[in-house]
Amino acid sequence: MYKILEKKIVNNDVEKIVVEAPHIARNCKAGQFIIIMVEEDGERVPLTIADYDREKKTITLIYQKVGYSTKLLGTKKVGDTIFALAGPLGKPVKHVENAKRILGIAGGVGAAPIYPQLKEYYKMGIKVDLILGARNEKYLLLEDEFSKFIDNMYITTDDGSKGRKGFVTQQLIELIESGNKYDEVIAIGPLIMMKFIVDITKKYNIKTSVSLNPIMIDGTGMCGGCRLTYDGKTKFACVDGPDFDGFLVDFDELLSRQNMYKDIEEKHKCRLDE
Ligand code: FES
Repeated sequence: MYKILEKKIVNNDVEKIVVEAPHIARNCKAGQFIIIMVEEDGERVPLTIADYDREKKTITLIYQKVGYSTKLLGTKKVGDTIFALAGPLGKPVKHVENAKRILGIAGGVGAAPIYPQLKEYYKMGIKVDLILGARNEKYLLLEDEFSKFIDNMYITTDDGSKGRKGFVTQQLIELIESGNKYDEVIAIGPLIMMKFIVDITKKYNIKTSVSLNPIMIDGTGMCGGCRLTYDGKTKFACVDGPDFDGFLVDFDELLSRQNMYKDIEEKHKCRLDE
């Protein structure tokens, strides 16, 4: 059992919790994730480790209440326990050698997994710019935390409630075309956002890393639930990722697989609302 020590409601859909998890806090690295089972008979849901504190033996999780299990997690309070956490899972991020400047692009809740990656680059002495995007101001995550180390931050919202009105892709094109040079782009957010970013960075030949979060069950490469086609071969996000070279990911296949479970997910959401 894993105790919730802190909880912050970020907005209507997004929450942040700090959980006591000594073995994960001791061993995790940027880019890794855990699989959470909120209750004994619950489903297994992958969540990125947004931050960790080795001394306090805690990890931080940020999640959007979009499905049955994350909504159930949202009902837990400080002092309550989570049934199981498995991890750290996945491969830690591989850093680009001799990078001088990189660009992070975070869409919505993608700000959580990108945060530890960018912070690590900053600690290595690399300049980090960030495009932080969300549908509106309320959904912009971790702005204060990023502002402590990000060199240039560009905010975009779909409705213009904060920063530039529009999508992260428009800001990306503007940055590239105005002469900014990046050794790598790291994009984390909705699949469709990462696909469009890769379409752009391919044209300019800027190496681009994406983080994939398909449906996962065992998290050990056994069930096949998280498979994807990568460079023409089958890979598993849980053991081969979750970070991949965006140029080699078959996004169209992933997008169609993502929609396969929509009806079932909707049914379970209703169950929790009853
Ligand atoms: Fe089962 Fe990745 S979650 S193979």
